[in-house]
Amino acid sequence: MKNRTDNGTHPGSPHDIVSLAVSFWTSKALLSAVELGVFATLAEKPRTAGELAADLGLRGRGTPDFLDVLVSIGLLDRSADGVYTNTPSATTYLNPARPDTDITGYLEYLNSAFPAWSQLSAALRTGGRLNRNEALAAAAEGGRETDRGGILLEADPDADTFGEAYATPQQVTGFVRAMTGFSLGAHLALTQAFDWSAVRTVVDVGCAEGGFLAHVLTAHDHLHGIGFDLAQVEDRFRKHVGISPAAGRATFTAGDFFHNPLPTADVIVMGHVLHDWNLNTKRMLIDKAYEALPPSGSLLIYEMLIDDERRARTTGMLTSLNVSLASAGGLGYTGAECRSWLKEAGFSQVRTQHLDGPDHMVVGVK
Ligand SMILES: C[S@@+](CC[C@H](N)C(=O)[O-])C[C@H]1O[C@@H](n2cnc3c(N)ncnc32)[C@H](O)[C@@H]1O
Repeated sequence: MKNRTDNGTHPGSPHDIVSLAVSFWTSKALLSAVELGVFATLAEKPRTAGELAADLGLRGRGTPDFLDVLVSIGLLDRSADGVYTNTPSATTYLNPARPDTDITGYLEYLNSAFPAWSQLSAALRTGGRLNRNEALAAAAEGGRETDRGGILLEADPDADTFGEAYATPQQVTGFVRAMTGFSLGAHLALTQAFDWSAVRTVVDVGCAEGGFLAHVLTAHDHLHGIGFDLAQVEDRFRKHVGISPAAGRATFTAGDFFHNPLPTADVIVMGHVLHDWNLNTKRMLIDKAYEALPPSGSLLIYEMLIDDERRARTTGMLTSLNVSLASAGGLGYTGAECRSWLKEAGFSQVRTQHLDGPDHMVVGVK
């Protein structure tokens, strides 16, 4: 009989379904590896399993399996004499010592949301929301329940999504760091996918730490950028952008897009922002961008879009599902929906273009 492996299932075998069903084990092994400091420790120097276990305080007898799972998914290498090192991918993306490409902030955020996702069935039955603050507090309490309202909250269209997300300074830092990792693929792709040659100024609405501006201004040294976001984010923006080569060409404008006009520029970018809000707010933000742009200015929206047929892009749909569970009124959308909103707001030359993975941009010209 042919040997069965994860990569060589028989046609018609149940194994594909079983692999999917246990894929949360792989996900949690990766998230725990970040939480336990496996990659950060190996970035300092290679170690054997025994040395790693001693340095990280790991006593579980599954530790060698845990480490070799990370080898099998391509994030660690193990030499013939049992020494573990980070692979090039882990060295680039799972390494806090390289803040321009580090995505561990996003993985830490996903790890904190792991208990909340165990309530998916209940949330779908009741329409409730996952209580991110409870998950974060419970994580800080070693997994114990806290008195912050339980892990599932009643649906409340008037809830203040970002008021909750930014309840403490630590949560602001955790969230904006998470966004830098969540959006890195799109940010890197955007430096090339859009023609920046005739653009002089760009505003990033909902800029978080400023990951997009740091990359695009570094890649195009004629560009100047403004990050627009809530005032709580300003010092995180200054710190993150301040260490990039683009620091002198980026400024921050504190504002609330419900109450303030958007700053003007040749290009206005809104990335992973519209999905946080209901349809009325999505349209309000597109209208505000139209008002703020000069004639011939462009609005560039990037998002993990759902495919127009709603059949193929699992990550786009999962991202939308996650937002529906974590925000008061947010939902993802297809490229076709977004193009129609831009045309109705008055934009022309509206188009969609792939960026990286599930991320796409929708661009319209005023
Ligand atoms: C999902 S994050 C996206 C961050 C970033 N654009 C990216 O792609 O990684 C949404 C951003 O919108 C900002 N935001 C939320 N409400 C806002 C408001 N009322 N006015 C301005 N910015 C807001 C948040 O602070 C956060 O940085």
